[in-house]
Amino acid sequence: REVSIIGVPSDYGQLRRGVDMGPSAIRYADVVERLENLGYEIKDEGDILVKKETATSQLGTNLKNLKEVIEVCTKLSIKVQEVLEDGRFPLVLGGDHSIAIGTLAGLTTKYKNLGVIWYDAHADINTPETSPSGNIHGMPLAVSLGLGDDRLVTIGGFAPKIKPENIVIIGARSVDPGERELIKKLGIKVYSMHEVDRLGMTKVIEDTISYLNKRQVDGVHLSLDLDGIDPLYTPGVGTPVPGGITYRESHLAMEMLEEEGFITSAEFVEVNPILDERNKTADVAVALMGSLFGEKLV
Ligand code: ARG
Ligand code: MN
Ligand code: MN
Ligand code: MN
Repeated sequence: REVSIIGVPSDYGQLRRGVDMGPSAIRYADVVERLENLGYEIKDEGDILVKKETATSQLGTNLKNLKEVIEVCTKLSIKVQEVLEDGRFPLVLGGDHSIAIGTLAGLTTKYKNLGVIWYDAHADINTPETSPSGNIHGMPLAVSLGLGDDRLVTIGGFAPKIKPENIVIIGARSVDPGERELIKKLGIKVYSMHEVDRLGMTKVIEDTISYLNKRQVDGVHLSLDLDGIDPLYTPGVGTPVPGGITYRESHLAMEMLEEEGFITSAEFVEVNPILDERNKTADVAVALMGSLFGEKLV
């Protein structure tokens, strides 16, 4: 019941400024108090140092701010590894979703058969060849599978970090053509909004748990992009997509994962206070963390 909070104030994975203020917004939404009230011992590790560059470098590729993303993710991977070595639960606050490259690199120094729940409107499984934008926040799953620019793939000194059969994507509704093909080819489990509507969130989470248990995972990381939730509830995100998961469904999902004692690390990403309404999106992020850590009436 010891949790370390790691802030990653980076916006280098995409082009809408402001998501670097996500960790502050989430702290102002009282994340520490909220989790302390549940009986956890919380250590706020502060933020990873992210340099504010005026000129960034793509290192001769089509990947925006590649050099900066490598630096941030390398630092983050080391921090996550340290937190694990201290026996603590890593709770990472983004920042855009490119930071998941660093989180997963750190986690997989310990977990050799890690399960990953990707709660997101997007699949974030583009490669430099398939990406329509060159934005690295659309690539972390591919990178962690060993696909993409070598300098990203080998962060932490080994690759791949995760296996396609250990990934479950929940909430997808905006997937690029190249991502679709890769998902099909690798046989990745996806509960798109169609399945969430059709099966209901209860069944989606039950199936996710039994699926990952069958894979005999040694840990499960929850990578939660706030744009997975409908922008009605979380407007402060850079790439909103209508028709998302509801507020209640999301709480239910967190509560069910908590009841199962399933999650061994988590990250909450893409909170952009500049695009938000009175810190609503950070408030939802913290409320969901409350459920994920056991907040319940009875
Ligand atoms: N698929 C689009 C792209 O590759 C959007 C990705 C959005 N990712 C995110 N983490 N919000 O550019
Ligand atoms: Mn230490
Ligand atoms: Mn997304
Ligand atoms: Mn994402």
